[in-house]
Amino acid sequence: MKDNIILIGFMGCGKSTVGKVLAKKMRYDFLDTDQTIENKQHMPISKIFEKKGEEYFRRLETDTVKEMVRITNKSIISTGGGLPLREENSQILKSLGFVVYLNVKKETVLKRLKGDTKRPLLAGGNVEEKVEQLIAYRDPIYQVGAHMEIHTDDMSVEKVAEEIIRNYEIMQRKGPCFEKSKV
Ligand code: S3P
Repeated sequence: MKDNIILIGFMGCGKSTVGKVLAKKMRYDFLDTDQTIENKQHMPISKIFEKKGEEYFRRLETDTVKEMVRITNKSIISTGGGLPLREENSQILKSLGFVVYLNVKKETVLKRLKGDTKRPLLAGGNVEEKVEQLIAYRDPIYQVGAHMEIHTDDMSVEKVAEEIIRNYEIMQRKGPCFEKSKV
């Protein structure tokens, strides 16, 4: 496994916020798969969905994580919420580093993403219903794809970052004997 920490989880779970704090604490680089894709495509994610469709975007996600396996080390990587849904991507992430699932409740997501216009999957219709259905479908997939799961709803960003670092260090000591941890 490479020396990276990868954050996965639903839109609004705090991957970027926690990721930036982690990067600072560990003196690692901070990378974001959505940002990497936007920079390469020269357009925002919402435009990519609109012009090329979701499937095209999902292929870009796979290309991005494959490239990261080749060149990325000592980095904190925040991923798009749908990235681990492809089985192939989930496998790649596990070889890219220590995968942490930031678990959030529907209520937290709705509070954080109120008024958001950047996320095409939540645009229009009954947002609450969409979030509920997507979380129910994705939660087991995130769980299987992670080395660690942490419930972040009632935790400060600092505390989440500290817990991740603590478990990351345990994993480094134990290697393959590390058992999946839940906080
Ligand atoms: C998506 C999540 C978004 C972005 C895209 C699709 C998803 O990223 O990749 O809009 O399928 O959950 P965030 O999780 O950073 O919002």
